[in-house]
Amino acid sequence: MRIPIIAGNWKMNNTIKEGIELIEEIKKSKLNKDVESVICVPYTMLKDAKVAVKETNIKLGAQNMHYEENGAFTGEISPLMLKEIGVDYVIIGHSERREYFKETDEDINKKIKTALTHNIKPILCVGESLEERESNIQEKIVNDQIEKALKDVNASKLENIVIAYEPIWAIGTGKTASSDDANEMLVSIRKKIKSLYDEKSSEVIRLQYGGSVKPNNIEELMSKSDVDGALVGGASLKADDFIKLLNF
Ligand code: PGA
Repeated sequence: MRIPIIAGNWKMNNTIKEGIELIEEIKKSKLNKDVESVICVPYTMLKDAKVAVKETNIKLGAQNMHYEENGAFTGEISPLMLKEIGVDYVIIGHSERREYFKETDEDINKKIKTALTHNIKPILCVGESLEERESNIQEKIVNDQIEKALKDVNASKLENIVIAYEPIWAIGTGKTASSDDANEMLVSIRKKIKSLYDEKSSEVIRLQYGGSVKPNNIEELMSKSDVDGALVGGASLKADDFIKLLNF
């Protein structure tokens, strides 16, 4: 039985003051206990956010992490630093990091392995560009990203990994993949996991869809066979919308 997981990715939004106000708004509503709720906030407010979500079921996530534990990497944040704060999840390989910060599949693989070593659950992002979808090579692109990201990752770890399928053309654009297209890709990802590992692993790993998820499309998405959750950008910045998503 896979527990549904809805994660908000705040990206580079919210000062500490704004972020805490948002969390306090979310806390006022009664959240569905059967859904795992995660907020992935900027580094600067992780510590305050951890205090704010105490005694709630809301889990805390970071949006990136370096793969080394320490060293001469100016401006980076290590798994030990996240662990010290009590971070539960970390987004790895978001398309914005791949595109603007030139993260490679090799970097992503190292980050996944480091996160798992430190018991931080990675939310691995994969997804194709518009051009790749128009050339009908999206499954190959996504399968390739998954194979490289999970290289040398042991099957026993898969229940602690979430894979978020986020077609790049649907992120922040208001264009959502149809629920059938999203599900079709998640079915293909599960098949890929089965071929890389085994049936059991493919059944335990949780798969999310991400890309313009809003209150008006969450229910339909979540009704699909292989959609276990959503990774949400824009709509996670508005308390009302995010509450609706968590209580889909
Ligand atoms: P969006 O972002 O919901 O604003 O499209 C999703 C994401 O980038 O994780």
